[in-house]
Amino acid sequence: MRQALGLNFEPKYWRGLALNLKTNLFYSGAEELGHVEMIATMIARLLDDAPINEQEKAAEDPVIGSIMGRMNPHHAIISGIGAMPENSTGVPWNAGYIVASGNMLADFRANLNAESQGRLQVARLYEITDDPGVKDMLSFLLARDTMHQNQWIAAIKELEEKRGTTVPSTVPSDWEATDFSYSLMNFSEGEESKKGSWASGKTPDGNGEFDYVKHGGKQELKPAPSYVHGTPPLDE
Ligand SMILES: [Fe+2]
Repeated sequence: MRQALGLNFEPKYWRGLALNLKTNLFYSGAEELGHVEMIATMIARLLDDAPINEQEKAAEDPVIGSIMGRMNPHHAIISGIGAMPENSTGVPWNAGYIVASGNMLADFRANLNAESQGRLQVARLYEITDDPGVKDMLSFLLARDTMHQNQWIAAIKELEEKRGTTVPSTVPSDWEATDFSYSLMNFSEGEESKKGSWASGKTPDGNGEFDYVKHGGKQELKPAPSYVHGTPPLDE
């Protein structure tokens, strides 16, 4: 749902930008709506005329059993057992899940994350079912999310090459305290975080070198005023 609707909203905010990148989004949004329909259809077919012995067998799994033992009355009374825009625990989907910032690169990265989470969840479903028909359908979704991850990776790369890797690319350098732009600040015990491509060498934006800073120090704030009745200072 997030991808289906998000991909239709995102391009509306990218004003005056390349048409091929925008239509790419509308096409994918339509496909994602198709995936919602496929999943709703799959669930309906699984539930239609499900033999009682299969239901009993499924209920032996503690997770499935806990769900089957407490059917959501809302589902029967309000939707007549149709698909509802809710998650599996009954929390309604809402427009707050849509990411559409007006910045293409920021949105593309959100899309890549959504496709990664989506493929991860499909893989987990694949793991827990032994129904060959369901596995067959899930294997199609795995393939499409492979495509969609690659699609966003390619689009991100194309934009990064044109506009740089840091979002937004339009911030004047005199706004930024550039002394801190490429420092990995370690706030943990030990220095394990020093061992990594994020702590030394050239930065991905090509504009600097990572450095590693051991940070620390005490917070220096006066106690809150007495009228807020916080915890009075403790002697240490
Ligand atoms: Fe997808």
